[in-house]
Amino acid sequence: MNNTENQVYVIFGASGDLTKRKLVPAIYSLFVQNLLPEKFALLGVSRTEFSDNEFRAKMKSAIKEFKEIDDDSMVDEFIKKMFYTSINFNETASYKNLNEKIIGLRKITNISGNTIFYLSTPPSLYGLIPQNLAAVGLNKQDDGWKRLIIEKPFGYDLKSALKLKDELLKDWDEEQLFRIDHYLGKETVQNLLVTRFSNGIFEPLWNRNFIHHIEITSSENIGVEKRGGYYDTSGALRDMVQNHLLQVVGLTAMEPPSSLQPIAIRNEILKVFQSFRPIKKEDVKDIAIRGQYLSSSIKGKTVSGYREEDGVSPESVTETYAALKFYIDNWRWGGVPFYIRTGKRLPTRVTEVVIHFKQTPHFLFAQNRLCDDCNQLVIRIQPDEGILLKIGMKTPGAGFEVQNANMNFHYSDFTNQRIPSAYERLLYDTMKGDATLFARTEEVLEAWKFLTPIIECWKNDEDVPLFGYPAGTWGPEHADDLIEEKEMRWRYPCKNLADDGVYCEL
Ligand code: BG6
Repeated sequence: MNNTENQVYVIFGASGDLTKRKLVPAIYSLFVQNLLPEKFALLGVSRTEFSDNEFRAKMKSAIKEFKEIDDDSMVDEFIKKMFYTSINFNETASYKNLNEKIIGLRKITNISGNTIFYLSTPPSLYGLIPQNLAAVGLNKQDDGWKRLIIEKPFGYDLKSALKLKDELLKDWDEEQLFRIDHYLGKETVQNLLVTRFSNGIFEPLWNRNFIHHIEITSSENIGVEKRGGYYDTSGALRDMVQNHLLQVVGLTAMEPPSSLQPIAIRNEILKVFQSFRPIKKEDVKDIAIRGQYLSSSIKGKTVSGYREEDGVSPESVTETYAALKFYIDNWRWGGVPFYIRTGKRLPTRVTEVVIHFKQTPHFLFAQNRLCDDCNQLVIRIQPDEGILLKIGMKTPGAGFEVQNANMNFHYSDFTNQRIPSAYERLLYDTMKGDATLFARTEEVLEAWKFLTPIIECWKNDEDVPLFGYPAGTWGPEHADDLIEEKEMRWRYPCKNLADDGVYCEL
């Protein structure tokens, strides 16, 4: 059911990659499903000069590149809703022109004051643009609501995030702010909530009494592609851990919320973040491993090392791999280690949560059974989305030989329905004003606070090594040392949920 109100959707950074690859194709999908409000205008804003028609033509080819289109006429219908204006982000007069453009648009389209401002710009503009919008009254809600959508990263560290928060809250209310973390828009990330809280069988086991440790991986086989300039100022910790991975930790570890109200869910995630055991500076080298990919040959093709990528300094010490071990000091998780890792140019693209259960108290069937063989519940976020449970089964024949068997469920067998993209879901939510799947300020600040000792050590302490790893491998071998028990190791996930091991199909 479409229950969005008429609105103008303003995208800052309209000539950028995100607009082309994700935002406009997502809004087009909503249009095709008849989920846009009856009166809707999309206003692209960026530095480059384009006419409305030039912008429409660009967006038409972006939609055709990133979506499967059978019928051009739908796209032609959609792009009629698009308009464009150029801006000098630093010049106050430019915002007056923008205001006039929006007023003019409202007149011709008969739309009220409801307006969304999506900041898909370099993060350095996240403070400036909202301040300038407020200076011309575009934050005022007397003629309709105004919402500000902010891409990640929200700040660069705790200090800059606090500064940005103060700058924004001077002119905008917290309810007007939507901080995008596209992982929260993924169906399978939301399914973590459903798996945990709609099944009575998991909850009794979901705690320190039965869980040995939790492992979360988000690996990518691609390198930094064309984003070297941005990535070199960010690194894996800021790009993936501070936001996406910690949100997944939050959903895995949170207490059951009292309802599905945004505030109820976000409060529980916040409590998890507040319970992270603070990391001591002197422990950083033992609980956090960083790495950077080196040139290598993958399937017979030579790929560049990180330092040879466009936009990256040849002396860069930015990490393209990060692995961490940490604890959540609360009643449920006391003493359970959490291991998380992420990296570029790893063997395959996988995001998954692995719950490793404890051994049975008395193991009848073999001596020295490794906990690598204990029950595991793998929640696969992407690709081959689904759930895998590993359970011990008797192999046929004499004696009691036990082997792990897989019970797996694949999302693709469950429904033929198309899974909407994360951006499609989140943009629709911004149009409806539903903040459930958006990070709130306190969460973001807690996440920065937790990571600050690592950020500082990696920046200042030359004794903390940056390990090189050949592109196409599972990162620095030293990451294995994070895992407490000697006989245990990270899972090596494969493209297919049910397989693992160093030599599987990637
Ligand atoms: C983005 C990061 O937020 O997430 C990228 O900036 C990363 O570096 C991407 O590639 C991964 O997203 P996904 O949805 O492909 O797992």
